[in-house]
Amino acid sequence: MALIKWRDSFSVGVEKFDKEHLKLVELINDMYIIVRDKGDVTALSACIERLIEYTRFHFSSEEAAMEEANYPGLEEHKKLHAGLEEQAVGFFLRVKSEGEAVRTEFYHFLREWLVNHMVEEDKKYSEYLKPS
Ligand SMILES: [Fe+2]
Repeated sequence: MALIKWRDSFSVGVEKFDKEHLKLVELINDMYIIVRDKGDVTALSACIERLIEYTRFHFSSEEAAMEEANYPGLEEHKKLHAGLEEQAVGFFLRVKSEGEAVRTEFYHFLREWLVNHMVEEDKKYSEYLKPS
């Protein structure tokens, strides 16, 4: 397990969303540090709350831009966002009630999800959102 390093290949070609994705990477890394250092559940919960709150903001911001651009994959993309939110909230509840193993599982899940989502799904909107 390690910190996520930003790579050029993560870029979706839209500066605003690259910045927001970078912020998400930083928030997931903050979570990683607390998990690695076996921080208490209060600190971890506060960190996860910040992460979920920012994720909601970011998803709304992406969805508004996709809608504005008449991106044809909007509905499918919204479902992916909603699915992640649901899973993250489920993990969060488990973090509060279960032992440490779920913390690592949650971190791995978020890391995989974010990287795959940026590279596989978000890049699909690039050409629609780029100023022509
Ligand atoms: Fe997205």
